[in-house]
Amino acid sequence: MAYPWNITLPMKKKSHHHSKIAFLKDSILRGKPWLAAHCFQLLQEVGNPDTSVEGIKLEGKVALITGGAGGIGSCTAKLFSQHGAKVLIADIQDEKGHLICRDLGPSSASFIHCDVTKELDVSNAIDEAVAKHGKLDIMFNNAGILGPKIINILDNDAAEFENTMRVNVLGAFLGTKHAARVMVPAGRGCVINSASVCSVVGGICTHSYVSSKHAILGLTRNTAVELGKFGIRVNCVSPYVVPTPMSRKFLNSEDDDPLEDVYSNLKGVALMPQDVAEAVLYLGSDDSKYVSGNNLVIDGGVTVATPFNIFDQ
Ligand SMILES: NC(=O)c1ccc[n+]([C@@H]2O[C@H](COP(=O)([O-])OP(=O)(O)OC[C@H]3O[C@@H](n4cnc5c(N)ncnc54)[C@H](O)[C@@H]3O)[C@@H](O)[C@H]2O)c1
Repeated sequence: MAYPWNITLPMKKKSHHHSKIAFLKDSILRGKPWLAAHCFQLLQEVGNPDTSVEGIKLEGKVALITGGAGGIGSCTAKLFSQHGAKVLIADIQDEKGHLICRDLGPSSASFIHCDVTKELDVSNAIDEAVAKHGKLDIMFNNAGILGPKIINILDNDAAEFENTMRVNVLGAFLGTKHAARVMVPAGRGCVINSASVCSVVGGICTHSYVSSKHAILGLTRNTAVELGKFGIRVNCVSPYVVPTPMSRKFLNSEDDDPLEDVYSNLKGVALMPQDVAEAVLYLGSDDSKYVSGNNLVIDGGVTVATPFNIFDQ
């Protein structure tokens, strides 16, 4: 397509975008604001450079995200869909899940009601991904709960402990099991579990939560060993405190509170859902094609620091 000022749009979106940026700068510098305005409009038509063809990492991939209606899950669903994946969000929050899918567009994302503690629900969600898109490439077992904020073990209730284990551990187990059911015959696939810094240290959260996250690390490692021979990689992500509905409830924080009071080792930056989503994207893409059985800790160094160290804090 030719334009009056003799620019032919290149085939690839990224170079198209870059040539337009150069032209936009040139137009402003040469005092031709009308050209700049027109070029700006073209830039908007091209879209966000982050979603340009050359940067896309999940083109043609199909991903299922449990807990996809929550903070980290919805952010990951959005990033995956920007990177070309077809995403199936599985959650118990139907309204939120449908809203997120509507925003991402029906060709990119869809929702299925799924309680990860129910094997039939999980099995149906996997089957739905395959029925809709022909395969499953990425299973993100992300659904999780904190359980009640009861610190003292003497006050802990067995049923509540069990419930946290059911959602966090049984949920990831069932997700991995049924993902493997379709990934093994395909000879490829990628499972990512949402663990936490609580998978490697004690003392940060309640007994049930810390126990469940340690168990997820065990599940990740064991299934990575078993499923490697089928070309399936299994990893987990272990974030520190991320501002989401879950952590806000635990910390009694308001919606717009950036959680600045939380202790951090790394100063000057704050951990956000997007940072976790980027880590999941890495583990779900071919960028990590030889990474399996790994626990990707995203904590700014909190868990490698001891309370007593030789450095000024
Ligand atoms: N926010 C943090 O600070 C933090 C830190 C480390 C790890 N994590 C982990 O990240 C994951 C996502 O947490 P988040 O912070 O986005 O919390 P969130 O509460 O925003 O999202 C959790 C989602 O899981 C869903 N869910 C709960 N029980 C379910 C069930 N039985 N079946 C299906 N879905 C269910 C919820 O509806 C919700 O949408 C969790 O596994 C959590 O343990 C969170």
